[in-house]
Amino acid sequence: MTVYCLYFSSCGSCRSCAKAVADGFAGEDYEEINLTNRTQELPQVSTGDVLIISAPVYGGRIPAPLAQKIERASLSGASAVAMVVYGNRAYEDALLELSDLLTKAGAVVAAGAALIARHVFVPAVAKGRPDMNDFALMKSFGESAARKIASGSFAPVQVPGNRPYRDKAPTAFTPVVDAELCQQCGLCARSCPTGAINPKNPQETNISLCIDCMRCVQGCPEEARSLPVKAQEFLTAKLSALIPITRENETFL
Ligand SMILES: Cc1cc2nc3c(=O)[nH]c(=O)nc-3n(C[C@H](O)[C@H](O)[C@H](O)COP(=O)(O)O)c2cc1C
Repeated sequence: MTVYCLYFSSCGSCRSCAKAVADGFAGEDYEEINLTNRTQELPQVSTGDVLIISAPVYGGRIPAPLAQKIERASLSGASAVAMVVYGNRAYEDALLELSDLLTKAGAVVAAGAALIARHVFVPAVAKGRPDMNDFALMKSFGESAARKIASGSFAPVQVPGNRPYRDKAPTAFTPVVDAELCQQCGLCARSCPTGAINPKNPQETNISLCIDCMRCVQGCPEEARSLPVKAQEFLTAKLSALIPITRENETFL
């Protein structure tokens, strides 16, 4: 039996959450797969394998490139632990969407979770999350999920959300580049999960491919990329109301 720790994590929170749950589930005995990489698909599974998978919440849904990868996968015989990670606003239909996609691909979803992390657009929202208490809860959730799956016979977990899912929000803006700071190193183009950045001219971003995941902004060693000023002002005004609010992680077993 192989335990896979899978994540789509543009800015790192989904990775740390998936690894904390996988640690609880399997100690260090798991295989890590980064689905943020454009060419990385889900693994070929065998009966008894376990997928611990985390996705960020984007507009109450999971990112389309991840959904498409799960749709292409064949997961019969595997069990899954499905997690969504969100920035303290709401996760709406994202966990249900992830659970449905895994089920359609053939996995039995044994456990689910909706976990809080700092909001990548306005990091003062849920600042410092996940923290030590969050990681302790994730580890314990991983242990409980392991016990449930080891018990052999279990009903698939029920998770919140509505069908049909809410509409996907279209990309309204793309990050902009400070031409004086950009060294044209191409790291942003190589690490973009959708190939939206022109590798020959990293200052060109294709809005029809960009999902606003902020990977290029967070990863730029020169800090040459940022959201357009108006977009950042809009998001800060919209999301700042969430700064004083503390939401709790939710787990479903
Ligand atoms: C395009 C986009 C849309 C987002 N939509 C939501 C949302 O609907 N609800 C929410 O609470 N957080 C939302 N967030 C915040 C992310 O879910 C959160 O920052 C998450 O931790 C990102 O995961 P990562 O660090 O692994 O990339 C959004 C972030 C981005 C980039």
